[in-house]
Amino acid sequence: MAEKLVRADISKRFSEMDVLRDIRFEVEENEFLVVVGPTGCGKTTLGNILSGLEKPTEGSVKIRGEVVDPHVHNISYVFQEPSCIPWYTMIQDVTMGLVIKKVDPVRTKQRGLDVIKLVGLEGFEDYYPWQISGGMKQRVAIARAYATDPDLLIMDEPFGHLDAQTRYLMQIEIMRIWEQEKKTVIFITNNIEEAVYLAGRIIILSKLPARIKGEYKIDLERPRDLTSPEFLKLRAEITQQCEVVE
Ligand SMILES: Nc1ncnc2c1ncn2[C@@H]1O[C@H](COP(=O)(O)OP(=O)(O)OP(=O)(O)O)[C@@H](O)[C@H]1O
Ligand SMILES: [Mg+2]
Repeated sequence: MAEKLVRADISKRFSEMDVLRDIRFEVEENEFLVVVGPTGCGKTTLGNILSGLEKPTEGSVKIRGEVVDPHVHNISYVFQEPSCIPWYTMIQDVTMGLVIKKVDPVRTKQRGLDVIKLVGLEGFEDYYPWQISGGMKQRVAIARAYATDPDLLIMDEPFGHLDAQTRYLMQIEIMRIWEQEKKTVIFITNNIEEAVYLAGRIIILSKLPARIKGEYKIDLERPRDLTSPEFLKLRAEITQQCEVVE
């Protein structure tokens, strides 16, 4: 049997606080998995553990059968707080991972130009963070994550700080990019509509301590229509599932 890209089986405590309890799931190559859960339930903690930045208290995260290690596995992580280095131009920013990996400078520059184009920021390559909008910074973070051609892309509420209109445009954009590059994505959000719009599969977390409350496979055709009866029905069903108090 082929090894799954990701196998997670983790629990996490911070001193006396139980945050994640028996979180077990697998992710296939090229999947778009969305993890949805209420505010404060442990989503960022889960993202940190999946990326190998933090260790679980029990269990492990395995990438193709090996315990996750950010120095070994090619994983990109888009943090919940948008971050750009103030004194880096956009192209310097998106290519920093390639520079660290000592990729040839000509290939580095070309990949930088390609990913900037991929996220629709062509022409802004030499702009500094203070010269661009919040939505553009979020695109820079996504371009940076794609630049290293990761095996796994983890995004922690990447659109949480954006206004509703920009958020919707970014959802369309991320789908377009995913269909073009077909990376394996784990996308974390607290927004059920966003989850149903993007996901191939949704995992629902309970409130703290987070446990897996349910799982949905979303077969709706893409691009999805937020107003179609099928979409609204699924959204209502998942909302109800999220609201069930155990
Ligand atoms: N390093 C830490 N030490 C102690 N407690 C922590 C640490 N990191 C997170 N926590 C606690 O774990 C719980 C879950 O936090 P986490 O940031 O993972 O939630 P979240 O679901 O991402 O929240 P949000 O929806 O606000 O982004 C919180 O109660 C938080 O205080
Ligand atoms: Mg968080």
